[in-house]
Amino acid sequence: MPSPQTARVWNYWLGGTDNFPADRALGDEIARVFPIIVDIARADRAALIRAVRHLTAEAGIRQFLDVGAGLPTADNTHEVAQAVAPESRIVYVDYDQHVQAHARELLTSRREGATAFILADVRDTAALLRAAARTLDLTRPVAVILSGVLAHLPTAAGARDAAQHLMAALPSGSHLVVIDGVDTNPALNDVMRIWNESADPPYAMRSPAEFRSYFDGLDLIAPGLVDVTLWHPETPAAPLDNLIGVARKPH
Ligand SMILES: C[S@@+](CC[C@H](N)C(=O)[O-])C[C@H]1O[C@@H](n2cnc3c(N)ncnc32)[C@H](O)[C@@H]1O
Repeated sequence: MPSPQTARVWNYWLGGTDNFPADRALGDEIARVFPIIVDIARADRAALIRAVRHLTAEAGIRQFLDVGAGLPTADNTHEVAQAVAPESRIVYVDYDQHVQAHARELLTSRREGATAFILADVRDTAALLRAAARTLDLTRPVAVILSGVLAHLPTAAGARDAAQHLMAALPSGSHLVVIDGVDTNPALNDVMRIWNESADPPYAMRSPAEFRSYFDGLDLIAPGLVDVTLWHPETPAAPLDNLIGVARKPH
């Protein structure tokens, strides 16, 4: 039986069905100890949807590079962006072949726009950008989405480098969206130890200062680096120790 994988357990917590018994068993074990994990998955995803909608409707972004995109779910990035601007172009990237096998559900672009899927590692930024350039015009602003993926890199410095290398290749007016858990809740830190003992890849809880460093050289847009429940919420809710930052590359 395959060991639990982040894309499939996440899919399970989000209410999806693209997962295996081992994923559901670990998902249930963690949710028994820390039921809020399901709220976290859904709140992270809801914040991502609000960010994509905001970037399309308010910042005029028409190109998205969604890295560590995960399995298809409700309101995938292209569906949210193209509902506002049908001409939007979206490249999804993930290094998990199970995600690739389901990617056809992400390739349902509106006629006016485009979507593509690339099997690649976020650390291999040069290859990733070369492949993305087949669909995106990298001389024009792009929003890079790193939701739930940087914490899977072993060091904060490596995570920062991946984000910074991607943004360095893009013009001013590009944006960076990062969502991940931080180490501010001991109960959540404990539960991630269960994850790290049983599943792939490990998830490293970073400090808010490490998370902030991903945005060095960029301008965080309002309301700044905040809990996912507090970024332009429809209804504000209690913090979940998962942060979101959306930042613009300046001139
Ligand atoms: C927790 S899921 C998040 C999915 C989606 N971005 C979301 O926020 O709902 C993490 C995703 O990142 C992918 N991932 C983890 N490490 C990666 C890496 N080094 N390169 C590319 N993708 C990676 C996993 O395969 C998985 O699909």
